[in-house]
Amino acid sequence: MEFKEILTNRRAINFFDPAQNVTEDQLREIIQNAAKAPSSFNLQPWKLIVLRDASKKAELQKLAFDQPKVSEAPVVLIMLADREGWKEGNTTLEANFSNSMQPEQRDWFISTTSALYGGSEAASQAFANKNTGLFAMSIMYAASDLGLHTHPMDGFDHEGVRKAFDIPEQYWIPMLLCVGHKKKDVKIHPKGWRQSYEEMVLNTL
Ligand SMILES: Cc1cc2nc3c(=O)[nH]c(=O)nc-3n(C[C@H](O)[C@H](O)[C@H](O)COP(=O)(O)O)c2cc1C
Repeated sequence: MEFKEILTNRRAINFFDPAQNVTEDQLREIIQNAAKAPSSFNLQPWKLIVLRDASKKAELQKLAFDQPKVSEAPVVLIMLADREGWKEGNTTLEANFSNSMQPEQRDWFISTTSALYGGSEAASQAFANKNTGLFAMSIMYAASDLGLHTHPMDGFDHEGVRKAFDIPEQYWIPMLLCVGHKKKDVKIHPKGWRQSYEEMVLNTL
């Protein structure tokens, strides 16, 4: 699909067809394509929990303002932002290091990521969430490319979801993401208002 088409077709879809599955192959393709997203120092501080089971999705729906799409979508992703993804010993950081760096770069690498992202809770939180947001956006576009639909959600009880799904403290949950097929014959509202270029640019210097 043309990228412009993907940009236009991606919508936050409220009504999914529960009868139409997202296959394991499709999900893998979406996630592997989305993993090409950029990240700070290529640290990729993101993980996923994939929900397909009806009872698990029902449990999540209750914690997500009872939004029916959580149960209707065949796949719901709990996006996890790793607030410790900058730290020495973190599994993903270590994998990244051993796959793409030389031992003599280690001291510089660890001290730089620690200084940038480990100085405060706010810094770790921002690091984890900005990168996972880019990954989530890439998932939405990768799904659109396969003709599938998505819906991002931050309307949920964060600590309730953490508890119900045993999510360790190191992760923040920036959003839930439904993936599926749009229900047939559902009318989608025209795309909502967007800021113009002039409204978005505060200053040109
Ligand atoms: C981080 C994030 C969280 C959102 N949370 C919800 C939500 O909990 N429930 C909902 O109905 N829509 C949610 N939305 C969808 C937005 O309302 C929607 O993206 C926006 O109105 C623009 O519409 P479009 O995505 O169809 O272009 C969320 C979107 C984002 C990016």
